[in-house]
Amino acid sequence: MLQLERITAGYSGATVLRDVTLRVPDGTVVALLGPNGSGKTTLLRVAAGLLDPSGGRVVLDGDDVTTLAPHQRRARGVCLVPEGRGVFPALTVRENLRVFSRGAGIDRAVEAFPVLGQRLDQVAGTLSGGEQQMLALSRAYAEDARLVMLDEVSMGLAPKVVDEILAFLARLVAQGTSLLLVEQYVAKALELADYVCVLDRGRLAFAGEGDELSVDDILASYLGGGVGATR
Ligand SMILES: Nc1ncnc2c1ncn2[C@@H]1O[C@H](COP(=O)(O)OP(=O)(O)OP(=O)(O)O)[C@@H](O)[C@H]1O
Ligand SMILES: [Mg+2]
Repeated sequence: MLQLERITAGYSGATVLRDVTLRVPDGTVVALLGPNGSGKTTLLRVAAGLLDPSGGRVVLDGDDVTTLAPHQRRARGVCLVPEGRGVFPALTVRENLRVFSRGAGIDRAVEAFPVLGQRLDQVAGTLSGGEQQMLALSRAYAEDARLVMLDEVSMGLAPKVVDEILAFLARLVAQGTSLLLVEQYVAKALELADYVCVLDRGRLAFAGEGDELSVDDILASYLGGGVGATR
């Protein structure tokens, strides 16, 4: 289980997150929602070890990992699929998969996303946006992650590709993988989610079970009428 306890964090003096507490119990899906700039990416960066919090603790399976480096957290099964396309554009698909994985990673990635199998020798930067996102996601598989954090992985993709990605996430969940999911498609995120957390200007505005809130409630009460709406 991942616990973020009373996290305060920011960039060069500007505090972004204030006193945020969030839990991802084993085998559950937590949707992290909130308007643009509310601190969702910052929170994932703190959890992955890419940004040190100025206050609070990150706890993994009961151990304080606040000072552990990103690769040490990866070794404990924490995987971040970052915002944007999380691939090495100058390397081929095969080389990307080798970087992400040990042993059976390439086979598993191709099994999850067969289109990658036809493009193993293509340079990743020339893949379509959807194919690049599939490659980025396949690292969750290749790394044998127990907790996968996904930062808007469906951003800018065609509905058919989004459905393929969600089907892949559902497979991860069925295997017992936990997800911390930042997603603009609120309705789709709620379909998968056991728990929902809403950030508003760096503070936790809501935390509870997914079915306590409807999509309309979330949009109206927390996101100012629509995802991405200006405050
Ligand atoms: N590297 C950085 N240096 C300085 N400020 C930053 C940096 N990264 C983010 N910020 C600021 O921190 C705040 C939170 O940004 P963050 O990216 O966490 O928001 P977000 O909820 O992920 O937004 P979005 O929905 O647009 O992705 C914003 O005001 C942003 O400008
Ligand atoms: Mg973000």
